[in-house]
Amino acid sequence: MKFRRVRSANSKSTARPWLSPISNVDGTFYAIHNTCLHRGGPLGEGELKGKVVTCPWHGWQYDVSTGKVALNPAVAVACFPVEVRGEDIWVDCG
Ligand code: FES
Repeated sequence: MKFRRVRSANSKSTARPWLSPISNVDGTFYAIHNTCLHRGGPLGEGELKGKVVTCPWHGWQYDVSTGKVALNPAVAVACFPVEVRGEDIWVDCG
């Protein structure tokens, strides 16, 4: 495990283009890869409802807690463990 500090609690950006902004779902934080498996859309710019983020380009939906595609759970983007340490968000980047 290689946890890295990706942002402070006061920032929205992770400053890492491959990583979607951290999703806060009812106080639990999730991090998935930012690139949609369909045609590379920016998942971090998609709308988040509950645990589901919708790609802004063509509407594929992903569960941010698993990275799995809603309509085909056999397919998934990378999903990274997240830890909150004080005011900072840390992600296990592998
Ligand atoms: S690029 Fe994401 S749905 Fe098409």
